[in-house]
Amino acid sequence: MSETNRKPCILVTGGAGFIGSHTVCELLNAGYDVVIADNFFNAKPEALDAIREITHKDFVFMEGDVADHEFMEKIFSAHKIDAVIHFAGYKAVGESVAKPLMYYRNNLDTTLTLLETMKKYGCHHLVFSSSATVYAESESMPLYESNPLGTSNPYGETKRMIERILGDTAHADKDASFVCLRYFNPVGAHPSGLLGEDPNGIPNNLMPFIVKVATGKIEKLRVFGNDYDTVDGTGMRDYIHVVDLAKAHLAALEYAFKRTGIDYINIGTGNGTSVLQIVEAFKKVNHVDVPYEITERRPGDLAKVWADTSYAKRVLGFTAEKNIEDMCRDAYNYGVKHMK
Ligand code: WQD
Repeated sequence: MSETNRKPCILVTGGAGFIGSHTVCELLNAGYDVVIADNFFNAKPEALDAIREITHKDFVFMEGDVADHEFMEKIFSAHKIDAVIHFAGYKAVGESVAKPLMYYRNNLDTTLTLLETMKKYGCHHLVFSSSATVYAESESMPLYESNPLGTSNPYGETKRMIERILGDTAHADKDASFVCLRYFNPVGAHPSGLLGEDPNGIPNNLMPFIVKVATGKIEKLRVFGNDYDTVDGTGMRDYIHVVDLAKAHLAALEYAFKRTGIDYINIGTGNGTSVLQIVEAFKKVNHVDVPYEITERRPGDLAKVWADTSYAKRVLGFTAEKNIEDMCRDAYNYGVKHMK
């Protein structure tokens, strides 16, 4: 960051996407200058106007592929980038199993091109969008940052490989400061109803699927198994509101500016909530029905996954504030307005 009183400028790759757009709002509200780089593979241009409407602030937007060296040169030669928050990447577990080469090519190339360009322009700070998917299966919960790594799908493996690439890069560059945030289950939407999660086609993830059922777009929810060793037999996960997750990125950025080296931090609530508990909360807070049927387990699903969040609290001063009802209310509020 320069000595002048110039506001730090943050490049947000994938900044038009679900978590990226919410993070850009928090960055702008915190007084950062922002450059968004996005190719709209998994985002919509409407998100850009939504960010402006929510924050009443503007930002630079560059449309292009983060894997493209010329595109990244254009950004770094035109703007003094003090730090990068790197979201750009494909993120559907099931799709990654069907199309592994697409996932390895895209998720690794975007990262390698970004890091090469950052090195060339002397940009040393990065917050990376990692995932709890990097952890090996574990019978015991919560998951700690010290838990063994081990992935069961190409998507998760790209996250683990990128964490390794970042680790080796940080080891070679004494000025590097990288923070890998291992998200658990991001859900919800901006309370304004202007930003949210609107996956193309049939959603893979629970919350957007419930929203489509509640808004009549899909007939009923399939609950993937109720014979797990959990509170009610259905799968338990650590759901975190996307606005809380966005705030965690600001805390991670400030942490990155104060140190060097690499660090890995769980971002969740520390609580496990079952599928049926989500369904009941969703119905209660939105006064809607969510018809469902119990079906077979989904291959690869675990019974229980939730975070130990003490390290995020200790080094970032971060604790999630929003609860399950907030997540259900905001997800539905967005879905009613936007989901087709
Ligand atoms: C949650 C629970 C399902 C859909 C995935 C990725 C992970 C991360 C978050 C990126 C499970 C159940 C779901 C449905 C259901 N993404 N379910 N019916 O699998 O925990 O995590 O998204 O980083 O990497 O793996 O999330 O929302 O798919 O499932 O019963 O139609 O809901 O069995 O218990 P998951 P999910």
